[in-house]
Amino acid sequence: MNLPDYASAPMISQIAEMLDDGLIIADNNGMILSVNDAAVRLLGQNLVGKYIVDVVTHDDITRIFAHVAEGRIVQEVVYQPTDMVSTEFALRIKPLDDNMVALLFLDMTLQRNLENVRRDFVANVSHELRSPLTSLSGFIETMINGDVTDDAMKLRFLKIMDEESKRMTRLIDDLLSLSRVEVYEHIIPENEVSLLATINAVRDTLVGKAEARNMQIIVRDNRLDKAKPARILGSYDELTEVFVNLVENAVKYGFEGSHIVIELTEPMPGQLQIDVINQGEGIAKQHLSRITERFYRVDKARSRQIGGTGLGLAIVKHILNRHRGSMDVASVPGESTIFTVTLPLI
Ligand SMILES: Nc1ncnc2c1ncn2[C@@H]1O[C@H](COP(=O)(O)OP(=O)(O)OP(=O)(O)O)[C@@H](O)[C@H]1O
Ligand SMILES: [Mg+2]
Repeated sequence: MNLPDYASAPMISQIAEMLDDGLIIADNNGMILSVNDAAVRLLGQNLVGKYIVDVVTHDDITRIFAHVAEGRIVQEVVYQPTDMVSTEFALRIKPLDDNMVALLFLDMTLQRNLENVRRDFVANVSHELRSPLTSLSGFIETMINGDVTDDAMKLRFLKIMDEESKRMTRLIDDLLSLSRVEVYEHIIPENEVSLLATINAVRDTLVGKAEARNMQIIVRDNRLDKAKPARILGSYDELTEVFVNLVENAVKYGFEGSHIVIELTEPMPGQLQIDVINQGEGIAKQHLSRITERFYRVDKARSRQIGGTGLGLAIVKHILNRHRGSMDVASVPGESTIFTVTLPLI
């Protein structure tokens, strides 16, 4: 940092207070002379007068500090405090004039987490695309080699190939949907949408899928004033996507022959609550907090088999964020699951 000549010591300490990164000034022996607020938040109170080795729990800190103080060189190390769960700092140590040393703690946790998320995401997408692709090219090769002569067999192969290519299309559509809602998440939609009409339309779309599993979809308007329109500011397409995902899940993961109930209530003035309730295997407690993560499926093999990519609830969550709404899930394993959506009414 090249400060102008007129930058006095009090001025520098005022600037240090603006930093989100912890800053410590120590003497050449490692005794702490001054700290900024961020360093106090990070390492605790009463730091002045203590020694660096006693507050920084890094195995090699004594050697590194001496190296900087004696060699007049800058060093940077990765520092993961033992008492702070999965937090990571870049600790930069720099010699100053007048036999002093500065230590700057740059919090890298968020950046590292984002990198992990990105890496996992790319790995997941590649994996999800690779399996249908491998299956497709296997079947194509078999057919090219002329190994399939029987017409019935040929048709069976083509049907599987059709299913696999549809799976890839679904995955790509979901990925595009997800990235679109992420981009526009900060913008509140402006159109007026009637939620009751949206939900009835969703029911009509999915009635066939439900019947195939011998299930019924029942919409119950339990608001006190049913004459009042259940209108919110929203995007019709996105809200449809929310309830298609939730009701489709209820159909997929519900017990065959059971009923799905979509219930509208107004728990407090200005708020609309929509519960999507199904009877089924449910979701064990340890999975509940994770099911809105991309690609998270409780039973990967089973969900894949019934055509799930694990992106549905991630899309739902982002759309609801955009609509300033929220979602909760409660489940009794072996019995039932309730997804509760809350949205602000106009
Ligand atoms: N009503 C439900 N009952 C039981 N489990 C559910 C229910 N809804 C969701 N889940 C679980 O949550 C997981 C994530 O759901 P999500 O909708 O994100 O993915 P998916 O349905 O597997 O795939 P996609 O929606 O992308 O086609 C599911 O794989 C399933 O394990
Ligand atoms: Mg789904």
